[in-house]
Amino acid sequence: MFEDRFMDAGYQPEDTAEQSLRPRTLRDYIGQSAVKNSLSIYIQAALSRRDALDHILLYGPPGLGKTTLANIVASEMGSNIRITSGPAIERPGDLLSIITNLNQGDVLFIDEIHRLSRTAEEVLYSAMEDFAVDIVTGKGPMANSIHMTVPKFTLIGATTRAGQLSAPLRDRFGILFRLEMYKPEELAQIVRRSASILGVEAEDGGILEIARRSRGTPRIANRMLKRVRDYAQVRGGGVISLEIAREAIAMQGVDELGLDKTDRTMLTTMMDKFGGGPVGLDTLAATTGEDAITIEDVYEPYLMQLGFLMRTPRGRICTPAAWTHMGRCQPGAASENQLKMEL
Ligand SMILES: Nc1ncnc2c1ncn2[C@@H]1O[C@H](COP(=O)(O)OP(=O)(O)O)[C@@H](O)[C@H]1O
Ligand SMILES: [Mg+2]
Repeated sequence: MFEDRFMDAGYQPEDTAEQSLRPRTLRDYIGQSAVKNSLSIYIQAALSRRDALDHILLYGPPGLGKTTLANIVASEMGSNIRITSGPAIERPGDLLSIITNLNQGDVLFIDEIHRLSRTAEEVLYSAMEDFAVDIVTGKGPMANSIHMTVPKFTLIGATTRAGQLSAPLRDRFGILFRLEMYKPEELAQIVRRSASILGVEAEDGGILEIARRSRGTPRIANRMLKRVRDYAQVRGGGVISLEIAREAIAMQGVDELGLDKTDRTMLTTMMDKFGGGPVGLDTLAATTGEDAITIEDVYEPYLMQLGFLMRTPRGRICTPAAWTHMGRCQPGAASENQLKMEL
C-alpha cells in the first residue's frame, strides 16, 4: 500500500527503475541554478588545484535530487563514489573500515546522515577535519589506540532534516546547499527528458500538466509520468495529451494542485475536527494515521509552499487559502483574528 503512493518515494533507498532517468552530468541536472553555479566553480577550482573538494551537505525534502547531485559531483571530479547511509552504519567500526579504505580524492556519500549514531558521528569529526582516525585495538587494560591518517576525501552528506544534525557535524561541512522545490517549467523540462528516455510520445500540454501536479518534486514527476504513460497506452493510443494526463492523474486521486488523498485528509481533519488549528504535530499524526516524521518531511513542505499551512509555536494552522481550496467555509472572522494573533 505504501509503495503505491506518490509521496513515500524518499523512504526507499535506491530504486533501480529510477537509475536510467537520473542525469549524470551537471549540464543535464535541471533547475537548482544557484546550487549548480556555485558547485561548478568549486569543482573547477578544486580540479585546477588537483585537490579534493570540500565536504558538502545537501539538504531538502525527499526526491529533489540529493543522491543524483552527489553522484554528479563525483563524476565531474573524476572520482570514485562510495555510498552508504546513516541507518546502514551500525557500529563506529563500520564507518572506520569504509573511511580507511578510501583513496585520495574519493567521494564518500552518506545518505540520511542525521540518522548516524553519535559514536559513528564522532569518527567523522577527526576524519573530516584532520583526515585522521583513531583505531582502538584490544580490550580493557590491553587496549591500544592507533592514530592513523587517511587520504583526503570529500564527504557528501544528504539529509531531509538539517536541523537534526549536531552542530559539530554541521560545522565541519565547508559547503551547504539547500535544494528548493522545482518550478513547473523546470519540472516540465525534466518530464520531457524522461519521456524521451522512456520513448513515450508526449504533447506539451500533457507534459506541463504532469509538471504542475508533481509538488515541485522530480521523483514524483517521473513517477507520475510512468503512470500517465500506462494510462495513455491503454486509453490514448500511446500519446500523452493534456486530456489523457488529466484523466490519468485524477484517477490517482491527485488534485489540480498536486495534493493527494493524505494531504487532503490532513487538511480536512484539521478543519473539521479542530476548526483549522492550531493542531499539534502528534495530534495530527494520531488523527490522520500518518507518521509524524513523514508529515513533517513529506507533506508539510509542499503545503507550506502552497501557503496552505503554517507552523506556529502552538501548532499547525490552515490558512484561508486552504479553506477555499477544500471548498469549505472558514467559520467566522474570529479565526482570522486568531490567525493574526498567532503570527
Ligand atoms: N535536477 C534534476 N534534473 C533531472 N532529474 C532529476 C533532478 N533531480 C532529481 N531528478 C530525478 O528525480 C529522481 C529522484 O532524485 P534523487 O536524487 O534520488 O532525490 P533525493 O536523493 O533528494 O531524494 C532521480 O532519479 C532523478 O531521475
Ligand atoms: Mg536520495
